[in-house]
Amino acid sequence: MTLGENTIRLDIKTKVQGSRRYPQDFNMPGQLYAKVVWSQYPHARVKRIDTSAAEATPGVVKVITYKDVPLNEYGIHTPDQTVLVPEGGKVRWLGDRIAIVVAETEEIAEEARKKVKVEYEPLPVVTDPREAMKPGSPLVHEEKGTNILHHIKIRRGDVEKAFEEADVIVEGYYITPHVEHVYLQPEAGIGYIDEEGRITVIAAAQWPHDDLHQISHFLQIPIEKLREIVPAVGGAFGGREDMYIQHLLALCAYVVRRPVKMVFTREETMMRTGKRHPFYIRHKWGAKKDGKLVAGEVEMISDAGAYASTSIPVLNNAASFALGPYVWPNVKVDAYTVYTNNAVTMAMRGFGSPQPAFAYEIQMDKLAEALGMDPVELRMKNLVEDGSPTITGATFPPGVGIKETLRQAALAAGWREENGRWIKPQIPQPKEPYKRRGIGVACAFKNVGYSFGFDDKATARVMLSWDESGEITRAIVKIGTSEVGEGVHTALAQIAAHTLGIPIQKVRIALVDTAEVPNAGSSSASRHVYISGNAVKAACELALRRKEEILRAETGETSVEVEYTYRGRIERPTTPYHPETGECFPHISYGWGTQIALVEVDTETGQVSVLKIWAAHDVGKAVNPEMIIGQIGGGVHMGIGYALMEHFIHEGGYPRTRRLSEYPIPTVLDMPPEIVPIIVEVPDPAGPYGAKGIGEMTTLPTAPAIINAIHDAVGIWVDELPATEEKVYKLLKEARAR
Ligand code: MOS
Repeated sequence: MTLGENTIRLDIKTKVQGSRRYPQDFNMPGQLYAKVVWSQYPHARVKRIDTSAAEATPGVVKVITYKDVPLNEYGIHTPDQTVLVPEGGKVRWLGDRIAIVVAETEEIAEEARKKVKVEYEPLPVVTDPREAMKPGSPLVHEEKGTNILHHIKIRRGDVEKAFEEADVIVEGYYITPHVEHVYLQPEAGIGYIDEEGRITVIAAAQWPHDDLHQISHFLQIPIEKLREIVPAVGGAFGGREDMYIQHLLALCAYVVRRPVKMVFTREETMMRTGKRHPFYIRHKWGAKKDGKLVAGEVEMISDAGAYASTSIPVLNNAASFALGPYVWPNVKVDAYTVYTNNAVTMAMRGFGSPQPAFAYEIQMDKLAEALGMDPVELRMKNLVEDGSPTITGATFPPGVGIKETLRQAALAAGWREENGRWIKPQIPQPKEPYKRRGIGVACAFKNVGYSFGFDDKATARVMLSWDESGEITRAIVKIGTSEVGEGVHTALAQIAAHTLGIPIQKVRIALVDTAEVPNAGSSSASRHVYISGNAVKAACELALRRKEEILRAETGETSVEVEYTYRGRIERPTTPYHPETGECFPHISYGWGTQIALVEVDTETGQVSVLKIWAAHDVGKAVNPEMIIGQIGGGVHMGIGYALMEHFIHEGGYPRTRRLSEYPIPTVLDMPPEIVPIIVEVPDPAGPYGAKGIGEMTTLPTAPAIINAIHDAVGIWVDELPATEEKVYKLLKEARAR
């Protein structure tokens, strides 16, 4: 019925009309306003905190410091952060917090925060993870004795021997920058004590139930006494997976026992919250003359910034994707994530998959060039299929659709297939001799769900009501799935309606309020359609069975509520890396995609225009094709930003791109006039109705496809993102000089 249809998004009307309330739109009688006193240094010892002048300011209710935090530690994965830095403690980046000023008005809070005096002893700063790894480098966390937060090794076969036997060796070195999430809605919200005495936070969050775990830890308050409500979320992209405001709002409510509102400025969200990891990636590939890959060696180093956040799970992902969706008999991967005094780095759309994809797909085109082989043909020879080995010695689960995405994208973009040979289309060149066009292809893949042994699960509660005839009148789905703007509530409602055999108008998705809905895990890892979708599907099936039982028993009841918890490991138990060999079953499921970019390079200015993108994505089963096309548009947009302009710049630990005027993202004028979405459906038998994930995959192939297209147009390789005009111009000049 509704599955596979372009059901209109449940939230669209209120969002378009502007009546939907985002966290900053909530106000309460008697509310106070809070402002954070941020660290002034990327690395310094805090010697003294003097709050007296701020406290003496009329209208200031409280200056909260470390003394008010019951157990001063938190962190989504590793509790290596203090909520508020204590005297004698250290600031390790500019996002560390010294105090929170709570006042009767926002203006007073702003004025008083400037009056908090902090005495610092500045410390040497380390900002390049490659330097930070070296012995003798300043330590970000002394007690750890090293800045290396984590190291992953993957060893398969014998790379040295295979390199000797290879016909071609291609080496490369790739660098990706810090990237800002740029959600439209900066962090905001309100903390208060609810009618049942619970410390309650209204904020934009990706995983409200996990926020409560972290808050419960540092406030030393049982989780039942805490509550988080997630209304409309103005974009997330991984940036709301960690807490940047939720914990501060909870702390404010806990200390002052009144509603406290806090809204970050754009500058605060830019300077004081997490970013996407920069990666430094070295590749060495060996192949046979016929294009068969024989050995891949990769070293990748990621900049974790000042605190762990999710740097280890991000690195876990990155290492598993290091060599792309290809079959490799011999593999050696060393992956490191390293503390620095740069911004904390964290989840961002792709969670460790965009950086490796940029590197491995340019490597692939360099190899194609070295072999004199068409890039589509070379990929076709090596892409994984059902049952192919992962580089970690496992096999891919059924539903591997990558070849199909490449085939469909290549044919759409004008490639011809002749007896296994692939022939690239001739690209007509513009009349202006200084303008050159080129076409580039890139494939990419990413996990769906949490990996490496993490118990990925979601609980759905479904309440069914029916009339005397037994016809369902209403279904309420209660699930803690944050709708972060991607349309997941609509997709889940479609799955529910389809499973129950009722029109979607009869389905309601309850407000995400931890007091009312069960834990569904984070809105991340492109996992909700798969994991939460399976939970909703199974809960609906259970509800239908219970309804039939009740009708048969003729009890007269006209409603039933059931609960079901879906666990990824029911079907596919993932395992962590073996410490020496890296052997593991890494991921539950995957999404697959290929994009092809047509670009035009102005050789006099270095400006690159993206003229057209073909984007083929395997989603298993398209729950809502229109929303998938929307995801593709959004993913391509982010990918163009990654490819051509986005760069969150630090100097000595100080961010230099502090506002949107200094951090360009693509506008409508930077978007290609045409994006051709191609939806591929190779079902995953364990997904709900075959569905996989789509959220992150849409952005992965865009940047490497564009960079490969630039090479096709003008012969240069841009190995360090972004390919700004200046960089392309310089590379062209160097190329001409050679
Ligand atoms: Mo997403 S990068 O898995 O929050």
